[in-house]
Order: sequence, then structure tokens, then C-alpha cells
Amino acid sequence: MVESDPVQLVAERLAASTLTVVLTGSGTSAESGVPTFRDAQTGLWAKYRPEDLATPAAFAQNPQFVWDWYQWRRGIIADVQPNAGHRALAELARRVTALTLITQNVDGLHQRAGSDHVIEFHGNIMRSKCSVQGCGVEVDLTDDTSPPRCPDCGGALRPDVVWFGEPIPPAALESALQAVADCDVMLVAGTSAQVQPAASLAEVAKERGACLVEINPESTPLTAIADFVLAGPSGRVLPALVNALGSQNA
Ligand code: OAD
Repeated sequence: MVESDPVQLVAERLAASTLTVVLTGSGTSAESGVPTFRDAQTGLWAKYRPEDLATPAAFAQNPQFVWDWYQWRRGIIADVQPNAGHRALAELARRVTALTLITQNVDGLHQRAGSDHVIEFHGNIMRSKCSVQGCGVEVDLTDDTSPPRCPDCGGALRPDVVWFGEPIPPAALESALQAVADCDVMLVAGTSAQVQPAASLAEVAKERGACLVEINPESTPLTAIADFVLAGPSGRVLPALVNALGSQNA
């Protein structure tokens, strides 16, 4: 093994880390068969941009239409399995002193791979919540083909995800900010780092002195400030990292 192998060097940092934070984006689910957020949509939905469907205004204007889009995406997610990258992150949590996983993904695949206490920064597509302001009832998704009604107030239920122009759920934001302020290593995997405030979490970690590691086959706005760039698919890089950590601990 070459000493300057970046995977080995990152593994050394992980072995010494007292708090590791991982931020993931839709690229970590790509190898499961879930299209990344900015990938072209397919089939009936190909002519719509997610940015035009994932908004409170779109839901207010045509709840059925937005609901149908989410049902399509839920169908994709229900049919796929966590990949080697998801499993490696669940394993990583067992190998380091402490790990906080923050995900922008709404697909629940980290949890299905065995990760606990995941901070869902943008919500979860498999839950619904009441769209009426001030009601806020949350329910597990039912299989309805049209937006179900709120059991409390009768308002339309909507997917429990963060839409464009909406704030991050306060508890998720607070826990994430605390973790990035305290961590000594932060891995950022499979995100284009274009959406705030998620992307700025990495900048906060870096400013506070953490070692920033990017895992992505493409470069992003974070590439220039990363201490290590492990260029490649997360389904290959993350297991390699866990393996290298294993040899560190041996
Ligand atoms: P994007 O679609 O913007 O970016 C996906 C990233 O994954 C890109 O940088 C790809 O290079 C990378 N990628 C692709 N395949 C990969 C692989 N196998 N392994 C690792 N990386 C890979 O998706 P996000 O950055 O997740 O928010 O988008 C962030 C947020 O933008 C979403 O959560 C969504 C959207 O606004 C909301 O809906 C609130």
C-alpha cells in the first residue's frame, strides 16, 4: 500500500476522529437505481423540472398532480435496495468513536441499510403531514392515489419533505449545525452542493477546523476547499474507506 493513498490517509483521520459527520446527497442512492435530483426525469414526468413540482405553490395549485409525482417517486424507492455505500456508512458508525449522519435524501435508504439517528435534513417521502398551517399532523403514508385528508382538521395531507422556499425542520437544522461545529472529520458524499443551507454545513465544518473529505465522481463547489477528494462512486469509495479503517484498527 502506498503511504500517500488518499483513502488510507482519510482512514487515518477517521481512526483518530472523536466526532465524524457525514452529509449525503442523492448521488449516494444513484447506485440503488434512484435517479439523482438533477438527473433528467423519465416517462410521463420527463417534461417537468423537480424545481417546478416541489413547491408549496405547485401543491396549492394542483395537489393531485404533485401527489401523483410523489407516488411515482415512492414507487421507484419501494422497488430498490440500499447499496454498498449505504451499508458502508452503517458499518462506519460502528467503527468510529461517534458519527452523525445528515442526509438530504428523502428515500429512507440509509435507515434501511441500518443507520440509526439519521438527521433527515429534507424530510422523508414515506411520511405525510397536513398542509394546513398550524395543524402540522404527521402520518405514515397511506397508499392513497389522491392526497389523503388530515385525520385532525380535514386539510390535504402532503409529503413530509422540504420544498423549495421552505425552511429546514428546526430540530434537524439545530442538530446538524451542532454536529458540524463539533466534528473533526466531515465526509460529504453524492451531493452537488448547490442547495443551501445543506451545502454550507461543509463550509462551517471546514471553518471550525475539521478535515473535509468529498466523495463524488464529479467536482462541485466544495472540491476547492476539500482536504481530500475521493473521486468515484460512493458505492465503491465508502466500502474502500471502511476496509482501510479496518486495517488501521487491526
Ligand atoms: P444533485 O442531483 O444536485 O447532485 C447529485 C450529485 O451526486 C452530483 O454531484 C453527482 O456528481 C453525484 N453523483 C452521481 N452519482 C454518484 C455516485 N454513484 N456516487 C457519488 N456521487 C454521485 O442532488 P443533491 O445534491 O442531493 O432538495 O441535491 C440536493 C438537494 O437539491 C435535494 O435534496 C433537493 C434539491 O433541492 C430539496 O428537495 C429540498
